[in-house]
Amino acid sequence: MAYETIITETHGKVGLITLNRPQALNALNSQILTELIAAVNAFGADAGIGAMVITGSEKAFAAGADIKEMQSISYADAYAQDFFVGWEELTRARKPIIAAVAGYALGGGCELAMMCDFIIAADTAKFGQPEITLGVIPGMGGSQRLTRFVGKSKAMDMCLTGRMMDAAEAERSGLVSRVVPASDLVEEALKAAAKIAAFSLPSVMMAKEAVNRAFETTLAEGLRFERRLFHSLFALDDQKEGMAAFAEKRKPNFTNR
Ligand code: CAA
Repeated sequence: MAYETIITETHGKVGLITLNRPQALNALNSQILTELIAAVNAFGADAGIGAMVITGSEKAFAAGADIKEMQSISYADAYAQDFFVGWEELTRARKPIIAAVAGYALGGGCELAMMCDFIIAADTAKFGQPEITLGVIPGMGGSQRLTRFVGKSKAMDMCLTGRMMDAAEAERSGLVSRVVPASDLVEEALKAAAKIAAFSLPSVMMAKEAVNRAFETTLAEGLRFERRLFHSLFALDDQKEGMAAFAEKRKPNFTNR
């Protein structure tokens, strides 16, 4: 598929997706949604890919949903189309996705970053949920996911005042996993993704599934789910190989079987 609003590249076993609507600070319109989902699904189906990175530009990861596209939408259409439901498909990706965020990650941009599995931020990153300034509220998960990342007090502050959070505050409050110099952002994210992609894919996918389950269930059920996945990994060659390699003091050769 030829894309117009994103650029895709492969770096070894990593799929890199760069949001590319510079004229609108990567505002998320319906075309970028369609193309992003197609690219994530294509990398998901590619046996040569073990992890993905989604990034934007130096100035903006994404400045939100496209305000100009949605400004004239009616309630009837928003409801009938279940406007924004399409973004949920991104969260069904089974391979890990890292968001590499520089510049603005506002509204839908912050929400897109939070749909990824973790966020690496440049020291220039600015996160926010400014929908309140437009007379609306977050619609792609901001009120729910931000609250799970940073807790009620800060999520309320962000959603009610619409203020931005810089990279240091985002790291301090658990929204991002690490902050790196802006000049190293994509390289650092690719390095982290390459590290993940070198592991056994089934164990990587199960690790992702297990962590995500923590947000959907009780501790007792989550622990049981984790244990069952853990048991199932003993059915794979890669568990034998990984543990044999440790005992034999050599690097494992995983085959994803
Ligand atoms: N939608 C559509 N276009 C956008 C946009 C958006 N979210 N954000 C920026 N743009 C466009 C601007 O309209 C401008 O286009 P023109 O040159 O044609 O006028 C271009 O991108 C550059 O933007 P600015 O001139 O505003 O750049 P700046 O450096 O002065 O300001 C900014 C940067 C502070 C990020 C500012 O652009 C801004 O406030 N953007 C909107 C942020 C926002 O409110 N996001 C939430 C959107 S709603 C949402 O996301 C709902 C949801 O929950 C999913």
